[in-house]
Amino acid sequence: MKNIIITGGAGFIGSHLVRLMVNKYPEYRIINLDTLTYAGNLANLKDIEDKPNYVFEKADICDFEAVNTLFTHYRPDGVIHLAAESHVDRSIKDPFAFARTNVLGTLNLLQAAKLAWEGKMAGKVFYHVSTDEVYGSLEAGGGFFSEETKYDPHSPYSASKASSDHFVRAYHDTYGLPVKISNCSNNYGSYQFPEKLIPLFINNIRHNKPLPVYGKGENVRDWLFVEDHAGAIDLIFHQGKVGDTYNIGGFNEWKNIDLIRVLIRVTDRLLGRPEGSSEKLITYVTDRAGHDLRYAIDSSKLHKELGWSPSLQFEEGIEKTVKWYLENQEWLDQVTSGVYRDYYQKMYE
Ligand code: NAD
Ligand code: TYD
Repeated sequence: MKNIIITGGAGFIGSHLVRLMVNKYPEYRIINLDTLTYAGNLANLKDIEDKPNYVFEKADICDFEAVNTLFTHYRPDGVIHLAAESHVDRSIKDPFAFARTNVLGTLNLLQAAKLAWEGKMAGKVFYHVSTDEVYGSLEAGGGFFSEETKYDPHSPYSASKASSDHFVRAYHDTYGLPVKISNCSNNYGSYQFPEKLIPLFINNIRHNKPLPVYGKGENVRDWLFVEDHAGAIDLIFHQGKVGDTYNIGGFNEWKNIDLIRVLIRVTDRLLGRPEGSSEKLITYVTDRAGHDLRYAIDSSKLHKELGWSPSLQFEEGIEKTVKWYLENQEWLDQVTSGVYRDYYQKMYE
């Protein structure tokens, strides 16, 4: 049995990836290494938690001894690293937490992998999951981010992810660590923590609460369905070239305000309200500091070299997503009230 460590597996994208890998590869033992911050929720994995090829290990990637002990114990064949602080607004309030987890945490994992794999790197993979935000901001209509675009991060979040990407490449170039990196655009789908735009707004529409649109709502994001991201990670992990970087995105750009209007229409319809009636909840608020204007990913390398394309049209993905949040109100309520934290934290104390 191959041992694969997935970090951050209790989070949004990590839980989709863990589910995919546990179900698709019974010959792999999937070890979910997660410290369960506010964003980690084992309820995201209820459907697979009893599978024989799934193990949960509560550990903090900032704790080198804990990480090294797990690497010594499991001798992983592969690592897929997603654990991170991931919300830009939080990074503006507490940049140090982002440097600790995203930079030093990543460095701890790289070092533990180097020690575990010294002299036997062949066949091993250290896969670092990153973001398109490292490339900075594009002008409206001003091209796309390619794998060659110069790094130009603006927020403490993107600066910390950029720094972690550099450390990953440094471990490849200096020590020969077999690394792969992908940089993906904004994800949406089930199990996303409702501080991010899409789940926050669905929840607020449901409760008739204001929808805080930053600035004029003119910022553009490129949205990808989370299961398509997980599928791309699986493909790159198995077939991507060691040392290479792959951009992942769905060529699906939306101005925030246009996306919000679609969300409102779909959510109103599914709640049985007149479509568009929740537009009255739109509230323009002070813009986010350093708010990147536009992200847009060119993922043609991944398409050409590995044959990847997103499986879902955006309209279909949004409909599925809104339905999921409305049908899983208990999950949303437990997350927004914090009940889930007490329950799982106690279980693993
Ligand atoms: P998330 O915030 O939903 O989940 C992060 C997970 O990491 C949580 O389970 C949390 O408990 C865990 N974690 C945080 N700090 C930890 C630590 N010190 N030790 C161990 N575990 C820790 O994040 P997400 O949105 O699923 O993003 C996952 C990864 O994908 C991140 O690296 C992020 O930068 C990247 N990414 C996210 C998006 C997106 O749209 N969400 C897009 C591109 C890339
Ligand atoms: P977010 O989901 O936080 O992702 P990111 O900042 O990583 O792109 O935000 C998506 C976009 O929506 C971004 O341009 C900021 C904007 N936004 C709002 O207008 N209001 C909100 O309450 C939030 C959370 C985001």
